[in-house]
This record gives sequence, structure tokens and C-alpha cells, in this order.
Amino acid sequence: MESRVVQLPTKPRPQDTLGRPLHDLRISVMDRCNFRCPYCMPRETFHEHYRFLKSSERLSFDEITRLTRLFVQLGVKKVRLTGGEPLLRPNVSELVGELTTIDGVEDVALTTNAVLLAQHAAELKANGLHRITVSVDSLDPQIFKQMSGGFAELERVLEGIRAAVDAGLTPIKINTVVQRGVNDHTVLDLVERFRNTGVIVRFIEYMDVGNRNHWSLDRVVPSRELLARIAERWPLHPVRENYHGEVAERYAFDDGAGEIGFISSVTEPFCGACTRARLSSEGVFYTCLFATSGVDLRTPLRSGASDEDLLALIHDTWTRRADRYSELRSSLTSREQPLKKIEMYYIGG
Ligand SMILES: C[S@@+](CC[C@H](N)C(=O)[O-])C[C@H]1O[C@@H](n2cnc3c(N)ncnc32)[C@H](O)[C@@H]1O
Ligand code: SF4
Repeated sequence: MESRVVQLPTKPRPQDTLGRPLHDLRISVMDRCNFRCPYCMPRETFHEHYRFLKSSERLSFDEITRLTRLFVQLGVKKVRLTGGEPLLRPNVSELVGELTTIDGVEDVALTTNAVLLAQHAAELKANGLHRITVSVDSLDPQIFKQMSGGFAELERVLEGIRAAVDAGLTPIKINTVVQRGVNDHTVLDLVERFRNTGVIVRFIEYMDVGNRNHWSLDRVVPSRELLARIAERWPLHPVRENYHGEVAERYAFDDGAGEIGFISSVTEPFCGACTRARLSSEGVFYTCLFATSGVDLRTPLRSGASDEDLLALIHDTWTRRADRYSELRSSLTSREQPLKKIEMYYIGG
């Protein structure tokens, strides 16, 4: 393990130009995926000859752990492992074990499509993983297949969720991307399936991340519309946020059957409370999901930079941060739209 970490308690916690502190770190541990969800990694682009990173180009576990320690010194308390598909990264549980023992890390979570979860759930729990989020877009096998890009693995995903419950990785959250005319007519089935189970379904508005998913506003189902549809069947009431900056708006069933959430980055942007930094699999630090560029941390890491140098780089990048893309989205003309946004699979969802 790296032992070059220095404690710099006097280093001030940075705030960005809009007064937002650094609190969460999302780490993409793997750029590859075993799905080809058309809204994320459409097959026509991410075909069999697509050049993904070589393993030597991805940050090693030691490098990720070292950087995480530094981010923690600057305020990070929550870490989420994502991708691509994080369970495709060999031995990812070992990384979980390293991250959960860092002083100051209060929460380590992982987002997965769950195809490989049944075989990893117990090991992830044993290594200290606190929480897991599983992506499931529909319980209709045909629609599931369409939205995962042709992989008919719904049963394996549901098995993965059961294994996570058995392993005690609770409460489990489900992420469901909703697209008008694709799966919006199946959301009630999802809600019904997970009511009374402790599993929390969160509906995500289809976002214009990257440049390759052919996003259009008329494919977005506003959360307000979905909420009304669900509440008509099962009355709901709002629940206070768990912590400042929580991305999902929470609603509980009046009959006590649990809760659901809505992530409305398109119709109700939450940039003002965004405290998230992102690290790509090859070590580029991004300050926004909709960024067009980031800061390379791998080169200095691999050419002998000290912890002080890296801390200064991260600190300065954060203090210069002015991103608020989701708030600006609707006011940008097409010429002002960023030309080359980073893709979700690469930056980590
Ligand atoms: C990029 S994935 C990575 C982790 C894992 N492969 C999974 O699917 O859970 C993280 C989350 O981003 C969501 N996502 C991907 N593209 C999206 C888009 N265009 N709009 C909204 N959510 C998206 C996925 O549904 C998933 O819940
Ligand atoms: S959303 Fe997740 S499962 Fe789907 S293609 Fe993207 S990274 Fe893979």
C-alpha cells in the first residue's frame, strides 16, 4: 500500500466559485460494460472494435486509494464506485475493503447493473460496502432487453438483488431511467413489485449526458408527471431529504409500504447543491457530469508528484469550479451547447 500520505489538517476545505463544498467522490473503476443501454453506450458506437482502455491505462487500486485519501482531506465523506460496469473490474471487493478503512470515509456505495451481483454480494458486504444501487429499467422482459441493448438478463438481475438483500446490503436502491414511449408505461409494475420490500425505486429523467445517445427533450418524462401517475394509484407524501444536496426527491406511500424517489436533473436541476467530484477510470478529475474536459491526475501520480502537489491540484481545480450545466441547459442556444461532452460510461454515472 502507498504510505506517502501526509496529513495536512491546516489545508482549508475548498469551496467552488458558487460556494459549494466538496463532499462526494464518484469513481469509475471500469470503462467497459456488459450491457449496451442505448441511452448510455449505444451499440452502433460501442461495437466490438471500440477501443476501451487497456488495464495499464486504468488507475490501479493503490492509485485510486491514494487519490481518495487526498480527496477526503479536502472534504469528501462519501464515495461511490461506478462505471461502466464496476463488477467487471477484477477483485473490485478488495478496493472496497481499502476505501472503507480510510479515516474520514463515512459511506462507500456501488452502482451496478447486477448481472454479476449474485456472485459478488456477500464478498462486497464482507469488505465493508455500505450500500448498493441496482439499475433496472423495466420488469417487462422485452423492454428490459431493449433498454439494456439486447442482453436478456432480467432474471439474473433480480437474482442479484435477492443476493444483495440476503447479504444485508440494505436498503437497496433501484435506478430506473424513464424514456417516453419506451418504458414509461411499465413504471407502475416496478413500483408494485418493490412496495413493501424495503427496496427503494428511484426514477431518473433521461439525461443528455455525452453526445451519442440521440437525446431529445420529448423523450424525457418529467418527474412531476410520473409522480402524479403513481400517486393516483398509491397516495404519496413528500419526505424530507436525508442530507443537504441529496439528488433524489423522496416520497413515502401513505399506507406505509415504503418510499420511492425521483431524480429530475432535466426539469428540476439541482446544480446549486451539487458537491460531487468524478474520477474517470484513467484518472481524469471532472467537476460536472456534463463536463467537456477534466484535469489529468494520472500523469502527475505516475511521475512522482507528492501528496502536497496533488492536493494543490485538486484544491485549485475545485475552487475554480463554476459548472451549472443543468440549470443552464434550457437557456443555451444550440450553438452554445457543449460540442463534446464526456460520455457517462467513462465519467461514471
Ligand atoms: C452509467 S451507469 C454505471 C453503473 C452500472 N453500469 C449501472 O448501470 O448501474 C450509472 C447510472 O447512470 C444511469 N444512466 C446512464 N445513462 C443515462 C442517461 N442518459 N440518463 C439518465 N441516467 C443514465 C444508469 O441508468 C445507471 O443507473
Ligand atoms: S447504464 Fe450502466 S449498464 Fe447500461 S450501458 Fe451504461 S454503464 Fe452499462
